[in-house]
Amino acid sequence: MMKKPFVAGNWKMNTDSHTSVRLADDIAAGCSQTAGRSFEVAVIPPFVYLQAVVRTLSASSIAVGAQDIYFEQKGAFTGEISAAMLKDVGCVYVLCGHSERRHILGETDRMVNRKVQAAISGGLLPIVCVGELLEERKAVQTDQVVKRQIKNGLDGLNDEKISAVTIAYEPVWAIGTGLTATPQQAQEVHALIRQMLAEMYDNQAAKEMRILYGGSVQPDNTAGLMAQQDIDGLLVGGASLKADDFLKIIQEAI
Ligand code: PGA
Repeated sequence: MMKKPFVAGNWKMNTDSHTSVRLADDIAAGCSQTAGRSFEVAVIPPFVYLQAVVRTLSASSIAVGAQDIYFEQKGAFTGEISAAMLKDVGCVYVLCGHSERRHILGETDRMVNRKVQAAISGGLLPIVCVGELLEERKAVQTDQVVKRQIKNGLDGLNDEKISAVTIAYEPVWAIGTGLTATPQQAQEVHALIRQMLAEMYDNQAAKEMRILYGGSVQPDNTAGLMAQQDIDGLLVGGASLKADDFLKIIQEAI
């Protein structure tokens, strides 16, 4: 059975109280015209606009996700947000280990793993992001880096827990740069991830897991990426901030 294509829009540190709601509304209106097609869409706004966006999308089938989570349940962790809080305001998904958090904010594989565990325990669906830096690709270390991030990031998850996880392969050199991995480059890494999952988990679970591609996804490169066997959807940054572009990407992906 073909998996439902999954397109998620990561708004990063963009929008405001007005434009976040407007963007969500425009995306919902566009998606409602795609009735009858089987696909899944999520938007991932900044924390402070989550509730407003959840309210705006309440009559639609678009899910809402958060951009990060903290792994402790509650207490003296100034500035952090727990799984229970995200669940409480209506989040379904949460990004764990986005490259901007790994490379700008110093998140380690161990922290990413604790976030993934906390998300699943709290009833959220983590989207675990992995991907190599440009110097790592040039040094032919892509496989090694991605393998380490997958192995450590998913450490301790059993066959049941892994079914909550979506993986996003986002080569860091392709994020926000206008450089996209070619469909072949992306497929090679997606196939590697799928093979790793099959070794770590039940074969069927590995087949069913969704592996998204992210990194300068645009309407005109979507079809080529989605035609690859192991690309099950897309994690879109910049182009998800324009409703028209995001809707075109959804159309191309389904
Ligand atoms: P981009 O971002 O589409 O702007 O490259 C992708 C991401 O970081 O998820």
